[in-house]
Amino acid sequence: MSRGSGWIVQTGEMSATIVDGRKLANEVVLEAMERASTLGRRPGLGVVIVGNDPASQIYVRGKQKRAQEAGFLAEVMELPADAGEARVHEAVEAFNAREDIDGILVQLPLPEDVNTLRIMAAIDPEKDVDGLHTLNAGRLVQGSDGLIPCTPLGCMTIIHSVMPDLTGVHAVVIGNSNIVGKPMASLLLAERATVVQTHIHTRNIEAICREADVLVTAVGKPGLVRGSWIKPGAIVIDVGTTRVPVGDGRYRVRGDVAFEEAVEIAGTITPVPGGVGPMTIACLLSNTVKASARRQGMQRKARVVAD
Ligand code: GUN
Repeated sequence: MSRGSGWIVQTGEMSATIVDGRKLANEVVLEAMERASTLGRRPGLGVVIVGNDPASQIYVRGKQKRAQEAGFLAEVMELPADAGEARVHEAVEAFNAREDIDGILVQLPLPEDVNTLRIMAAIDPEKDVDGLHTLNAGRLVQGSDGLIPCTPLGCMTIIHSVMPDLTGVHAVVIGNSNIVGKPMASLLLAERATVVQTHIHTRNIEAICREADVLVTAVGKPGLVRGSWIKPGAIVIDVGTTRVPVGDGRYRVRGDVAFEEAVEIAGTITPVPGGVGPMTIACLLSNTVKASARRQGMQRKARVVAD
C-alpha cells in the first residue's frame, strides 16, 4: 500500500512534525476492511476482560466499537475480578473452539491470582492477535511470519511512514515488557537497526537516548524523557499512557515524554493522546484479518522479516 503524508502535521519551523495517529490509523483500518472484503466471511474478534478496572473497560469498549464499525464480529466476555484462573482459561477455550472467532485478546493486566503467561499459552496461536503466545514471540525473534503485538506493530508503521529504511539506524527502546518493549526491539532489529534496549536498571540512560535516531519509550512514567535526552531531528515514539488526576475527579492521559520540550528538539514525534493509541486498535483489526485469512487458507505469501 502506498500512503500519502497527510498524517504528518507540520508545526513551526524549528519544531518537530507531529504524527496524526488517528489519521494513519484510519488508513490502516481501511486497508484491513478492504482485505476483509475479499474473505469468505467477516472476521471475528473475541475479547476476554476480567474485573472492572476503568481504564481496561474503556480500552475494551474502544476495541469492540472499532471492530464492529469495520463490520467485524466482536464479542466481549466479561468475568468478575474474582473469577480465578480456571474460569479465564475456560473463556479462552470457548473462543478457541469457535469457528467464527479468528482473533482472541485477553485484556491485560489480569488479576494477581491469574498467571498471565499460562493464559497466553492457552490461546490458539493462530488466533493470538495480541502476539503474546510463546510461539508468536519466538516467530518474531526468529524472523518467521507470525502475529505481532499490536502496539509495536503500530509504532513500526509510524516509523516506516517517515523512515522506510532503518538499516544501520541507532534505535533505543525504553522498557522491556513482553507486550511492547521486547517485541519493539525485535522488530527494529529485523529492520537492520542497531538496537539498545534500556530499562529501570540502565545506567546513563540519558546519554544512551541522546544517541538515538529512533527513540521508543514504553514505561508509563509521565515526563520521563526530557528534551535534553533527545538527539536533534530524532523520531520519538511515545507509547506511555498514564492517567494523571487533574482535580474534580477528572484525569488526563500523559505520555512518557515531556512533550513541550521534546517537540522543539525531535524531528518527528507522536502526541499522547492521538499518536500510538489509535494505531494499536487499528493493528488489532489488521491482525484479526490476517488471522482470519490464514484460518480460511487465504494466506498471503509469508514475509520473512529478517535476513
Ligand atoms: N492492556 C493494555 N494494552 C493492551 C494490549 O495491547 N493488549 C492487551 N491484551 N492488553 C492490554
